[in-house]
Amino acid sequence: MSRTADTDTADTDTTTAADAAITADAARAPDVLVVGGGVIGLVTAWRTAQRGLTVTVVDPEPGGGAAQVAAGMLAAVTELHYGEQTLLALNLESARRYPAFVAELEEASGQDTGYRSCGTLAVALDADDRAHLRELHALQTRSGLTSTWLTGRECRRLEPMLAPGVRGGLRVDGDHQVDPRRLAAALVTACRRAGVGFVRGWAERLTVAHDRATGVVLADGTALAAGRVVLAGGSLSCRLGGVPPQALPPVRPVKGQVLRLEVPRAYAPFLSRTVRAVVRGSHVYLVPRESGELVVGATSEELGWDTTVTAGGVYELLRDAHELVPGITELPLVETRAGLRPGSPDNAPLLGPTALPGLLLATGHHRNGVLLTPVTGDVLATVLTDGELPAHARPFGPGRFAPVRQEQPV
Ligand code: GLY
Repeated sequence: MSRTADTDTADTDTTTAADAAITADAARAPDVLVVGGGVIGLVTAWRTAQRGLTVTVVDPEPGGGAAQVAAGMLAAVTELHYGEQTLLALNLESARRYPAFVAELEEASGQDTGYRSCGTLAVALDADDRAHLRELHALQTRSGLTSTWLTGRECRRLEPMLAPGVRGGLRVDGDHQVDPRRLAAALVTACRRAGVGFVRGWAERLTVAHDRATGVVLADGTALAAGRVVLAGGSLSCRLGGVPPQALPPVRPVKGQVLRLEVPRAYAPFLSRTVRAVVRGSHVYLVPRESGELVVGATSEELGWDTTVTAGGVYELLRDAHELVPGITELPLVETRAGLRPGSPDNAPLLGPTALPGLLLATGHHRNGVLLTPVTGDVLATVLTDGELPAHARPFGPGRFAPVRQEQPV
């Protein structure tokens, strides 16, 4: 795709001392600069370094980002939505890779990721929820997925803390969980051990020379040059300056408020698997960790960059979770937090080269960032080394959103 005259002019005319420094520094530049040190940026860096490329990650706080808030459900089957069959294939591919991925990561980092193959139970509290869950079951069956319909009594036999009113449920033994905070910490260590460099700072502007991405300039004016740049900044990916419009990712922040409770040892096991439901149209899930942490999430709010934890958000989560598992009101509430999912127009990620040579994307993972971590790392490492997107990633190329050139009237 050709670039606009305006952008070409801007690139040529606004060459700064920082750009000159980048050119001068190019000999020392890494092969790949990853903008964003959340789980997606980190896995991209780790996998790419393993293939022999030199990699630097730029982020003010590597290992932070949405993973610090996320519950870590690996819920390809229970989070299936109508119209997302293409995404389902990628989600399943990543879920399939998870056991080997965490084994390798734990070996490489010497750290535990909190991966648990505990399964998920999606339950219904009233007739409407039950109808919704029956629809989901039918969609799962049509999609070749494994889930088992249970009566309310069977659900409570599996999870005795469930409310007596539970009307039925879907048992999905293939939907597991990982602890995203531990995952991020393990990825930071694995990256360091693989030789990935870290620069702590905010990437403010992409530098472009001769129609090619050449690096970034940080908020403090530091210039970083690189052979290629991967933009993996979650919802912030749309805010990097200097990116030509046709290469800018169409991502937006989707706020999620999440609570963390603590299950005292005397109460364990409180829940043995992830339990979730749709209550009055809102998703609520309870994710029990082996450590005793119980994560309750999550709201889904289109409020721009706001990350305020609101009384209303906490109230709704506790109210809905209490309807599912009344005993939660006995547990200490230890943390409330809000994060921003990087939503894309079709809820699927943007992976691979953009219209601007030298600039690639790994963003837009929306509700599935933790689930899609293994496959994203492999896809980006493949395209960075072989130049080709693997077949299973081709539907997720950024080109699917590139603006169509308008025909000029004659
Ligand atoms: N995948 C769970 C969430 O985004 O809330």
